[in-house]
Amino acid sequence: MTADATFWDRIADRYAARPVKNMTAYEQTLERTRAYLRDTDTVLELGCGTGTTALRLAGDAGQITATDIAPRMIAIARGKIAAQGADNVAAEVATAHDAPVPARGYDAVLGFNYLHLLPDMEETLARVHAMLRPGGLFISKTVCLGAAPHLRALIWVMQRLGKAPHVRFLDVATLEAAIAAQGFEIVETGDYPARPVSRFVVARKAEARG
Ligand SMILES: C[S@@+](CC[C@H](N)C(=O)[O-])C[C@H]1O[C@@H](n2cnc3c(N)ncnc32)[C@H](O)[C@@H]1O
Repeated sequence: MTADATFWDRIADRYAARPVKNMTAYEQTLERTRAYLRDTDTVLELGCGTGTTALRLAGDAGQITATDIAPRMIAIARGKIAAQGADNVAAEVATAHDAPVPARGYDAVLGFNYLHLLPDMEETLARVHAMLRPGGLFISKTVCLGAAPHLRALIWVMQRLGKAPHVRFLDVATLEAAIAAQGFEIVETGDYPARPVSRFVVARKAEARG
């Protein structure tokens, strides 16, 4: 496993036990996401953690494949899926680079609290674009910490101690430019919450021409 996969695996049980930090922002994120999903959609979630969001959206999609790099996160997600009897949700250990892709592509790919953790965000965005059908949606929410020199120094120390994963200090303009650079049209944005900015972005892959 990569160092990041090991980190997230180790903290999975603690992560599962932690309550959602900002419930209002979480519910807004779910509500805006639901507005774009249809009950026939085939959906991939990347960086799903313990599957909470996939389960909350299960009634709004046809099929959801929830994926995460950390096996322990997926083990917990599978337990929750079985407990809820959500037969249209599956959980798999995978990243954007090895997730299964249906022949016609996904209708939607979701990535919440995920993009800022990637050492290869641009390559991942290119991969997400390739996995979507024409007209498909990439729906994400990403904390944008800006320059934040003190926090950056603190995280640097914690990373050296194995107590923090890779974290990218993004700003909103950089995030949105990186998404648009892959050929997406950004169709909706929001800040849930506004501080620190957690940028909700709905991005559409262009329809096929002709
Ligand atoms: C902050 S948690 C967010 C979990 C969930 N999406 C949520 O909003 O609660 C980040 C998740 O991303 C996963 N992750 C980190 N790097 C990843 C990668 N390269 N590919 C897939 N998942 C990754 C971690 O294992 C962790 O479960």
